[in-house]
Amino acid sequence: MPEDWAALWEELLQARAAPPAAVRPAGVSQGDRAPGWRPAGPCSTASAAWIEIYKPLLEARQVQARSAARPWVLAQLGQSLDGCVATAAGDSYFVTGAHSLLHLHRLRALCDAVLVGAGTVAVDDPQLTTRHVPGPHPVRVVLDPAARLDGSARLFHDGAAPTLWLCDGRHATAARTRLPAGTAEVLAVDGLLDAAEPARGPHLARAFTALAARGLRVMLVEGGGVTVSRCLESGLLDRLHLVIAPVIIGAGRRGLQHPGPARMADCLRPPTRRLALGEDMLWDLDLRGPATGAARPG
Ligand SMILES: NC(=O)c1ccc[n+]([C@@H]2O[C@H](COP(=O)([O-])OP(=O)(O)OC[C@H]3O[C@@H](n4cnc5c(N)ncnc54)[C@H](OP(=O)(O)O)[C@@H]3O)[C@@H](O)[C@H]2O)c1
Repeated sequence: MPEDWAALWEELLQARAAPPAAVRPAGVSQGDRAPGWRPAGPCSTASAAWIEIYKPLLEARQVQARSAARPWVLAQLGQSLDGCVATAAGDSYFVTGAHSLLHLHRLRALCDAVLVGAGTVAVDDPQLTTRHVPGPHPVRVVLDPAARLDGSARLFHDGAAPTLWLCDGRHATAARTRLPAGTAEVLAVDGLLDAAEPARGPHLARAFTALAARGLRVMLVEGGGVTVSRCLESGLLDRLHLVIAPVIIGAGRRGLQHPGPARMADCLRPPTRRLALGEDMLWDLDLRGPATGAARPG
């Protein structure tokens, strides 16, 4: 990272912790949707590029303070050139490189909560902390509508950060019997699964509304591919970070599995920013931004 980055990161963390009105509105960005944020003093060109990546998370905090029925949601996936987030056996350590890992931990530090699907917890047994960067740990949320996990995952017991096991109301009691008191909390959401058609997947808007009611305003959805794809399809993502590593996995676990339209002209083509993370490339997609025109040869 650039030499001036450590001080700027501290400034970003201070802005993240400040009450909403205390974050200095310095002009307007992204149309009139969010007040802008910028550091107090000048910074290097390289750090300015990083600030553009992290600034939307601070601005979202301001917007959510005004209307908090749903959280602002950023999803991130680290994927191969051929669109996989893990091998077929589920190994995802490490698709992307060291710079990308630090970036992921910075995102966690700037969010109130980080959410992963039950499949990720079953395979990775993740910690979801910010141990590689200075900054607060987010609340950890495991989306497990049918309470298929056995309750033994590390994050349910390590006490490193508040942890929510998010289940449909009908499965919450079963989940609670698998957790000793004083560790994680089971958050029951009625109607998270359609009782008649549970195979349709979770009613994600209800999950996010329940999280907003807990004061979780800025969220990171960190995988896996099924969970991020479901969020995208439900229109619940505000931003998407795809970190693409120069590796080919082959028949691995898919990242995005969006059904998509028939015509190229109707495909999602949101405004983007790019930034190199060592050998990896971060694509920052503003999913609420105006669609950009399709690129045409010539
Ligand atoms: N590279 C990255 O950025 C990244 C990030 C996170 C995870 N990953 C990798 O992604 C893979 C997991 O992602 P995913 O898309 O398969 O799932 P996911 O999005 O983490 O979780 C949802 C899926 O897991 C299934 N599931 C529920 N309970 C389960 C259990 N106890 N055991 C196994 N699966 C269960 C769900 O099935 P139902 O809907 O039927 O309940 C659903 O298909 C892992 O290999 C992980 O290493 C990679």
